[in-house]
Amino acid sequence: MSDLSEFLLKRRSVVVRNMEEPGPSSDDLENILRAGMRVPDHGRLTPWRFIVIRGGAREKLGKILGEAFRKANPECIDEQVEIEEERFARAPTVIAVISRTNPEHKIPEWEQVLSSGAACQNMLTAALGMGFAAQWITEWYAYNEDVKVGLGLKPSDKVAGFLYLGSMTEPPTDRLRPEYQEIVSEWTGPTA
Ligand SMILES: Cc1cc2nc3c(=O)[nH]c(=O)nc-3n(C[C@H](O)[C@H](O)[C@H](O)COP(=O)(O)O)c2cc1C
Repeated sequence: MSDLSEFLLKRRSVVVRNMEEPGPSSDDLENILRAGMRVPDHGRLTPWRFIVIRGGAREKLGKILGEAFRKANPECIDEQVEIEEERFARAPTVIAVISRTNPEHKIPEWEQVLSSGAACQNMLTAALGMGFAAQWITEWYAYNEDVKVGLGLKPSDKVAGFLYLGSMTEPPTDRLRPEYQEIVSEWTGPTA
């Protein structure tokens, strides 16, 4: 088996709590982002955008998260807001993957949405393959309108995910996977 298929068969995300500095260099990050741009895209519609959040921008976006959380949860206590403010500081680098579809186009919107999922997975795989810790996360703030405005998104944009990237503090253990027989079937013709 090639190194690549061995890698894909054993691949695991590294959860954000097991991430630390350093994140990818600018060159490595560009390669990860270019891998995200190189995904199946029916009709060449480029129905995705990638926004890099690193350095001091993590704290600025964290403040926006804190405010959005307080607005959505007026009963919350300050400690909860502080946790939200720290979310982006958990990893050195975060890529927000935005699904920006054209629903009027003849290519079904569903296919355009799928392409942004492919972009997330390609970047996740690229980052892990380069030896970085990486996790695809949405949490609550992917779905929050105030956070979307803070990120400069259009109202019709959707957040496909935040890819957290860093170095791993410890290697991941394996995760229970579905049974092959329950997932895979072979169609051999119409059933009588
Ligand atoms: C769209 C999407 C959103 C996700 N959001 C979260 C999340 O908010 N929090 C979380 O702990 N895991 C989330 N996950 C799951 C992790 O990314 C990941 O699947 C899990 O850690 C196991 O990863 P692995 O199968 O790559 O090892 C999400 C996965 C997907 C596909």
